[in-house]
Amino acid sequence: MSEFAELSLGDKKYQFPVITGSEDEKAIDIAKLRDETGHITIDSGYKNTGATKSAITFLDGELGILRYRGYSIEELAEKASFLEVAYLLIYGELPTAQQYAEFENEIKMHTIVNEDMRKIFEGFPVNAHPMGVLSAMVCAMSAFYTGEKSGSDELNIIRLMAKMPSMATWSYKKSQGHPVNYPNNSLDYCSNFLNMMFALPVAPYQVNPVVSAALNKLLILHADHEQNCSTSTVRLVGSSHASLYASISAGINALSGPLHGGANQEVIEMLEDIKADGGDTAKYIAMAKDKNSGFRLMGFGHRVYKNFDPRARIIKKAADDVLAALGINDPVLKIASELEAAALSDEYFVARKLYPNVDFYSGIIYRALGIPTDMFTVMFAIGRLPGWIAQWKEMKANKEPIGRPRQVYVGATERAYVSMAERA
Ligand code: CMC
Repeated sequence: MSEFAELSLGDKKYQFPVITGSEDEKAIDIAKLRDETGHITIDSGYKNTGATKSAITFLDGELGILRYRGYSIEELAEKASFLEVAYLLIYGELPTAQQYAEFENEIKMHTIVNEDMRKIFEGFPVNAHPMGVLSAMVCAMSAFYTGEKSGSDELNIIRLMAKMPSMATWSYKKSQGHPVNYPNNSLDYCSNFLNMMFALPVAPYQVNPVVSAALNKLLILHADHEQNCSTSTVRLVGSSHASLYASISAGINALSGPLHGGANQEVIEMLEDIKADGGDTAKYIAMAKDKNSGFRLMGFGHRVYKNFDPRARIIKKAADDVLAALGINDPVLKIASELEAAALSDEYFVARKLYPNVDFYSGIIYRALGIPTDMFTVMFAIGRLPGWIAQWKEMKANKEPIGRPRQVYVGATERAYVSMAERA
């Protein structure tokens, strides 16, 4: 054992190996802890618990670094296409031109959603939240592609990448009372999504390259984020050997929560509320600091970023660029900037290292692109899909054991059953 950590319990000492990651991160390997000491660790929210060794995404929360497979998020967001990044995450390397063409073509061959799935979709109410619909539709895929029809993991990966944007647009179409659009394989991934969202039988949609490029950037920024809540969910569900569809559907549900991906919708709603309330940002900063108010500044704070969220920096600049290019003057952008400036100079936020996260400005761009508020988290899910797939694939390739945390039981000790008649 070259480097080790020593633990004293009573009069005994135990040694545990220290593992070092490729970026010099350190972990104490406690795999034998319970066998050797009879103790477990407890770490609510897994704040200090590494669940896996992963070669997909590197994140340094103190330095604000995010890299997919070694490539910086800044460079990828500037230069790559979303499908290129998806390929990178899923298969480990950037694709050659031929690999890219094959990957894109495979996806195009599977964009149509089984018409029988439409019947399930039709049962949802017109005002159903699109995240609930999306997770149910993805889960339904596990019933459609089962047994002999299921094919290889590779095929299921392609099916998900291909069909998720199509299914996502259905919810929007239904909410508008409009017929759904079928995919157009002459368009690239982002343009195809936009076309399915916005084309009408009476009015074809002209893809604006500014809009398509902005969407491409946002999807890249969301594509992976190592062991966050939804990704850990995907890996945990997948560790039971549940299908890829079941695992991704669970990830979508985890993402929907307001403390996770659902924050992007909450941010815009919060900014709208502040605007409607006269734009008094100081009042909302005070509320966020008051633990009894039940109010949090949505889009602020992060479990791992304690300096800045590199995605937020890119998105803030992109928001300025997109609004300028589209000639949009969104009053909530001003409120967001004021809120950010006020929070960043406030002792409460400074002391707790609370900075704008990826969700703070993303909604402003989505809105400028014409995406309705309740679709924001769905956009996050479309972006995160290749990351979830890559993590699921890695978990499977590494033959990771079923995820099964332990607990410290604090309930009643053994007691005798009392019949109902005798109970007080
Ligand atoms: N507004 C006001 N206070 C906050 C906020 C906030 N947004 N976030 C954290 N705090 C305070 C919190 O009350 C606590 O204070 P104290 O130490 O006095 O008790 C301290 O900061 C630490 O917060 P925590 O809840 O223990 O931190 P966490 O790591 O468990 O939670 C978080 C991280 C992102 C859930 C949290 O910051 C939050 O609720 N933010 C708002 C929701 C949000 O924007 N979520 C999107 C995250 S980024 C997208 C994604 O990847 O999901």
